[in-house]
Amino acid sequence: MRLQLMSWPEVEAYLRRSNGIIVPIGATEQHGPVGLVGTDAICAETLAWEAGELSGAAVGPTLPVGMSEHHMHFPGTITLRPTTLAAVVRDVALALARHGFRRLLFVNGHGGNTAAINTGFFEAYSDAPRAVAGGEELRCLCLEWWHLPSAARLSAELFGDRDGDHASASEVSVAAAAYPDHLKHAAMAAEPPPTSRVFGPADFRRRYPEGRMGSHPELATVEAGRAIIAAVAADIAEEYRRFLGEA
Ligand code: NI
Repeated sequence: MRLQLMSWPEVEAYLRRSNGIIVPIGATEQHGPVGLVGTDAICAETLAWEAGELSGAAVGPTLPVGMSEHHMHFPGTITLRPTTLAAVVRDVALALARHGFRRLLFVNGHGGNTAAINTGFFEAYSDAPRAVAGGEELRCLCLEWWHLPSAARLSAELFGDRDGDHASASEVSVAAAAYPDHLKHAAMAAEPPPTSRVFGPADFRRRYPEGRMGSHPELATVEAGRAIIAAVAADIAEEYRRFLGEA
């Protein structure tokens, strides 16, 4: 049930039976020579929508731009400052809480967002006693989808040690399953540079001239993406049920 496709009376009726919601959050950043710039947002929303179907959860609008400073030397990347992203997360969480949503599960598509998302949660907790009247306490949880058990299992089964870190075959497959007409092909070096520390956007582009980190996105397929979506969405739905039931 997508919030953006509901009317306010439908949201009001939903809130009489549940105070939970899933919020996809992604990024708009380069994903190597064949990955879509929208990969992280597309993965987060595709998985969140499917988990919403499985669990009956409302799914909020996708937050499509994240903290991508380290990718800014590749065209197409858009970044928020970490403090801006934390403020966006805080404001969204408190707005939802003011209507009665109290269990907010963020499905995160981008590792660079994690610190700012958690900062935003604590900003919301700090302000909730003044901003939100009564009811259960506000709880927010951030899930990195690629860390879920099914994602790790399928990554190993489908791609072995060639899945990689940034522009992984797994995430490019999920985006390909969502937009099969946009599967791309490009010439790439046989082996990407191994993953190492990165200190900023110029350093990132120097170390990873193609934009991928240890990954083989050319292995991505629509079929792999469909398998990942089904299994990982089930994991998210399970985490959501556990989150709602937690004492
Ligand atoms: Ni990504």
